[in-house]
Amino acid sequence: MPDDFVTIDWTDDGAIRLIDQTRLPLEEVYAVCVNADEVARAIRTMQVRGAPAIGIAAAMGMAMAARTIHAPTFAAFYASLEEIGASLVRTRPTAVNLAWAVRRLLRVAQGLRNVPLAEIPGRLTAEATAMREEDIRINRAIGKYGQELVPNPARILTHCNAGGLATAGYGTAVGVIRAAAEAGKHIKVWVDETRPLLQGARLTAWELARAGIPATLITDNMAGHFMHRGEVDFVVVGADRIARNGDTANKIGTYGVAVLARAHGIPFYVAAPISTLDLSLNTGAEIPIEERAPEEVTEIGGRRLAPSGIRAANPAFDVTPASYIDGIITERGVARSPYEESLPRLAGEA
Ligand code: MRU
Repeated sequence: MPDDFVTIDWTDDGAIRLIDQTRLPLEEVYAVCVNADEVARAIRTMQVRGAPAIGIAAAMGMAMAARTIHAPTFAAFYASLEEIGASLVRTRPTAVNLAWAVRRLLRVAQGLRNVPLAEIPGRLTAEATAMREEDIRINRAIGKYGQELVPNPARILTHCNAGGLATAGYGTAVGVIRAAAEAGKHIKVWVDETRPLLQGARLTAWELARAGIPATLITDNMAGHFMHRGEVDFVVVGADRIARNGDTANKIGTYGVAVLARAHGIPFYVAAPISTLDLSLNTGAEIPIEERAPEEVTEIGGRRLAPSGIRAANPAFDVTPASYIDGIITERGVARSPYEESLPRLAGEA
């Protein structure tokens, strides 16, 4: 069951075309980015969002920008490419996939220091394209491992959007749900609306409806009610950055869902690619949390909800301590506690 939409792709003339996620689900329109500044803007304004998707957007943005660098030497070319990468990484601080993707393209460029400069942009484009294809394969593998954990029948709760829209396709947490449905399991999904930006109500609900998977939208504060009534069997969410000890940053509100799941004895899983691991951080306390504009809380769709002058806090992510996580589903299998041992092993560290 592939997605029937394309999150991000090249246009015929080498620009980047992405489905504008700020306009979904009411309008299905595409934004075209023709330079790295436009890609950075698309990431910052969340026309493209979700940890893997912004990583791929950054890689494609760098490859596109590489074509316009006019440098006399490899060193000068590389310095410009590094600068472009840094400007893309600055757009959103929490999802580590962004820095991971930029590092990967820079590493590829380094390996090309002895080839003619004119050939490098084409090679970077090929790498970014490969990352996009690879991401879909990774998500299918996550889906395969994850679906084995899903009971049959199951009422699954998910938070935010970790679907095809948040990746190059298929999704991580939504990939697990899709794979369970593809395996013939009887699945129903509780979709948390996910205030303040409503990624659940606007995006996950849209994706699941298009995939024909039965879904019910709830406001975030209803999750405990349905868990208490025994109407949730399984929780799966995505991740933006996972520390070495398994502490996981994901969309604000995830932590509360995890605590509720534990209180009700419901399995709580995180689904994420290896590229979301940040083994350089020992615990989640070191993960930078993006603070976004207060208007995202005081307004909805440009309409004010709160009295003018009220202060509003708007952390975009929270950190769920590893102790609340029953397993982290990756493309290489499911990591379990103690994560300090299982995550480095899966990542290929000694
Ligand atoms: O602020 P967003 O919409 O980019 O946040 C997205 C999430 O928190 C997702 O759950 C996470 O990036 C995983 S996407 C596969």
